[in-house]
Amino acid sequence: MTVNKKSAQRAAQLREELNHHNYLYYVLDNPEIPDAEYDRLLRELQTLEKSHPELLTADSPTQRVGAEPLSAFEEVAHEVPMLSLNNCFDEQELSDFDRRVRDGLEKDSVEYVAEPKLDGLAISLLYEKGMLVRGATRGDGSKGENVTQNIRTIDTIPLCLQGKNYPERLEVRGEVIMTRKGFAQLNERQLKNNDKPFANPRNAAAGSLRQLDSRITASRPLEFYCYGIGVSTQTFADRHSEVLQKLKTWGFRLNPEVNVLKGMQACLDYYHAIQAKRDSLDYDIDGVVYKVDRFAEQDILGFVSRAPRWAIAHKFPAQEEMTVLKGIDIQVGRTGALTPVARLEPVFVGGVTVTNATLHNQDEIDRKDVRIGDTVIVRRAGDVIPEVVSAVKAKRPKGARKFKMPTHCPVCDSAVVRLENESVARCSGGLYCGAQQKEAIKHFASRKAMDIDGLGDKLVEQLVDQGLIHDVADLYRLNVEQLVALERMAEKSAQNLVAALDKSKTTTLERFIFALGIRQVGETTARTLAHHYASLESLMQANTDSLLEVEDVGPIVAESIETFFKQQHNDDVIEKLIQAGIHWPAIEKPSAEALTLAGKTFVVTGTLSSMGRTEAKNALQAKGAKVAGSVSKKTDYVVVGVDPGSKASKAEELGVEILDEVAFLTMLGQ
Ligand code: IVH
Repeated sequence: MTVNKKSAQRAAQLREELNHHNYLYYVLDNPEIPDAEYDRLLRELQTLEKSHPELLTADSPTQRVGAEPLSAFEEVAHEVPMLSLNNCFDEQELSDFDRRVRDGLEKDSVEYVAEPKLDGLAISLLYEKGMLVRGATRGDGSKGENVTQNIRTIDTIPLCLQGKNYPERLEVRGEVIMTRKGFAQLNERQLKNNDKPFANPRNAAAGSLRQLDSRITASRPLEFYCYGIGVSTQTFADRHSEVLQKLKTWGFRLNPEVNVLKGMQACLDYYHAIQAKRDSLDYDIDGVVYKVDRFAEQDILGFVSRAPRWAIAHKFPAQEEMTVLKGIDIQVGRTGALTPVARLEPVFVGGVTVTNATLHNQDEIDRKDVRIGDTVIVRRAGDVIPEVVSAVKAKRPKGARKFKMPTHCPVCDSAVVRLENESVARCSGGLYCGAQQKEAIKHFASRKAMDIDGLGDKLVEQLVDQGLIHDVADLYRLNVEQLVALERMAEKSAQNLVAALDKSKTTTLERFIFALGIRQVGETTARTLAHHYASLESLMQANTDSLLEVEDVGPIVAESIETFFKQQHNDDVIEKLIQAGIHWPAIEKPSAEALTLAGKTFVVTGTLSSMGRTEAKNALQAKGAKVAGSVSKKTDYVVVGVDPGSKASKAEELGVEILDEVAFLTMLGQ
């Protein structure tokens, strides 16, 4: 085959592919490939057409961007075509652009307006005598869709212009976007209503504006930033920057990052500054745009086919790329959460090579229908962990396999449980599971648990990493000799730690239960359980029905407790701890007469002079009272110490009885 024939075939193939993706992107709002991939195909075609001009056809997507508007909306012809921008991706390409501009203008340095390139959708707004008469999408650039009713629902778009001196007819152009916050809230709502969530804010904005029912649009958090004009019956400015300022006075929101810059170095600096700011902005941008500021200069430069010669988009490195999902591994986190992690064919995304990406959980994998062997789209947004966004179904190979969460933990082989209403699957291994060891030991040693003085987080990590301890019971086998051998551990500290470990052996049942680190069992639940069962053995044998009888224990907590004690490993660790000498005084159930405050709910706020907050809490609970964290109508008493917070005023507001320290002590009988 001759080179020319080969090129002709490739060009035809590219045209077909690009036209298809154009249709998916613009008409259906449902792209199948990342923008970066599209850009690459388009560039390949552009290069081919440049070196073989005879291959350029009228239907080439390089000559026309976009596609047919959806039929359900009325068609709008743009009096001034809505053009697109050429892209550049690096300093060299930017400098080539700047050189072409300077050559064209025969100038050494040019003034540009730099703006963020917003990732939303372009909109044209027509104002007649200051009234908004029509809103239209860009469509294919010459014909768009009439979305006036929907446009009117967007708060940031003025329905009539402010001030005066605006042209009789004026077309304002800009971008409709959805903020990241609005997007997150919308998706939460979608999931709650069992509706499909949107892939990203741009799709959400486009989908929202394409609603035939404008009431739906009204319920969506859309916003608008203006960036230029189309038709105008009057010339009212000599520069683009002046137009923007005028638009601002007429009631439009101008992006605060817009800046007038002189020369290409200033443009580059701007690019880097915006890139650094990118993650902290509340909306998605995919680059910056530079526009020659003076209209007289824009006119000299003119246009090439679909884009102006006087402007360029400087794109950020792609944040979405396509690659192959080779396999799915399971990562066990600190809390025992099992996360499916995609093992990927290495791919360069947003400036780094990515080989792993999170798939979140089973529900997400099912929703996205991602299978092993699939070609997938990977996104990396700022510092966020890369994620698999979707599968490219069209590229699915025959043998692609569905993924199922394992039933046993890959680290310790304990049963994997998934509680009702939770999307996360967890290892039930607790203290035994290697992945959870460090966190479990840190928790065990903490002040409110076994209170082991001198056993900080760093030391726990060192001990586990050196293989000196595997579970919490191993702590009690540590000796001074072993400890002294550790980095930065003096004889004295080692002795102190051993003494602290020894001291911690005398504890209380509630501390011990809390120290075990059972999911859902915090300090309060641990105390309730200790008092309810009065012995560890009875708690360990309790079944769901029994657990549900305990105050404040619901089905989720009950299941978590039962599963924990069902694991043989956990029982073994507990046995070792008891063998090591951990003990607590027997719990005497207080007599009914002693429970003078049974049924009463207290809130304690401010500083008490006679006891600490925890002590006060314990004293109240010993008398059968409930201690709550916040004041509500259900609160019986609020104990107010020195420097009380808002809780005291809340009590006053609700008419809840306030006790000062003296009244409180009297009530305790002290
Ligand atoms: S100016 C002739 N300014 O990018 C210039 N466009 O590829 C026309 N866009 O369809 C566009 N932010 O949706 C311009 N600050 C900005 C922009 C911007 C985003 C989008 C717009 C347009 C596309 C051009």
